[in-house]
Amino acid sequence: MSKSFNEWVKGCQQRVEVAAGELLPPTDLEPKILHEAMRYSVIGGGKRVRPLLVYAVSELFGVDEHNADRVALAIECVHSYSLIHDDLPCMDNDMLRHGKPTTHAKYGEAMAMLAGDALQPEAFIYISETTLNPHQKLVLISLLADAASSRGMCGGQAIDLSMVGKKMTLEELRHMHALKTGTLLHAAVMSGIWCAKEESSSEELIEALSSYGNAVGLLFQIVDDILDVVSSAEKLGKTAGKDALENKPTYVSILGLDKSRELAKEQYELALASVQKIENIVGGNKTLRLREIADFIYSRDH
Ligand code: IPE
Ligand code: IPE
Ligand code: MG
Ligand code: MG
Ligand code: MG
Repeated sequence: MSKSFNEWVKGCQQRVEVAAGELLPPTDLEPKILHEAMRYSVIGGGKRVRPLLVYAVSELFGVDEHNADRVALAIECVHSYSLIHDDLPCMDNDMLRHGKPTTHAKYGEAMAMLAGDALQPEAFIYISETTLNPHQKLVLISLLADAASSRGMCGGQAIDLSMVGKKMTLEELRHMHALKTGTLLHAAVMSGIWCAKEESSSEELIEALSSYGNAVGLLFQIVDDILDVVSSAEKLGKTAGKDALENKPTYVSILGLDKSRELAKEQYELALASVQKIENIVGGNKTLRLREIADFIYSRDH
């Protein structure tokens, strides 16, 4: 019998913890304080949604676990770096993350910046250390670099900061969210393909997976905006109500709660339609995890 979703998630989270423990620079290596700050930010971290996507997609193609672990951790390192910098006083000025003090609250701003900086090259080291062929490695490196670039996550964060207190159209809002959060989730999905044998993927399948990645990517940030308003710090492990306090441009602040929920449902349905397309190609219930991840992203409370 296949594992329940919860068991599968726990197994994946465990794999990320183990890989991070083994691969991140040890704390007895100088500069110890920097390595400590990097480990503090990644280990015992969050939900590991991006690794879940890497694992779920790579399982569609027949996994090499060693490689999938490195690629999943690489994406999680870029995500962790983005959170460290997102929490800095010059950005969202947050003191709580993963139920503990943010990296700058614990290690100071300069060390937090450096921990974020250092986690980026670390990600590319892990990809280069897979046993994949050079072409696969290059594609993975470029997927992740693109997603984190000024045309992706950094660009989205720049729009987020420059739009504080300003009005945005639905199209502008969607674009900002697709960049700041969607690109990395999309890259996680697409990376899952490249952890496996490259010849196993048809154009049609790649397109369906890409639509799935875009849909869950945007869905993820819409739900994050909703949770900031309706959830608690206890559940989220980060300060709730912070977006309104900082006048942040979010789905809820610009469109209201009801409309945001409606648009989240729309993205969720788009994700499910993509899963159906994937299933039509790969057959059977091989897509179960993709469906379950979309359900989780839509209905999560943290
Ligand atoms: C939070 O991401 C930042 C966003 C992109 C919305 P997650 O909610 O995935 O963070 P963790 O890693 O699970 O804490
Ligand atoms: C963060 O969005 C997106 C990135 C870190 C790229 P938020 O600022 O909404 O994330 P939280 O709510 O602090 O986790
Ligand atoms: Mg932010
Ligand atoms: Mg933030
Ligand atoms: Mg948020």
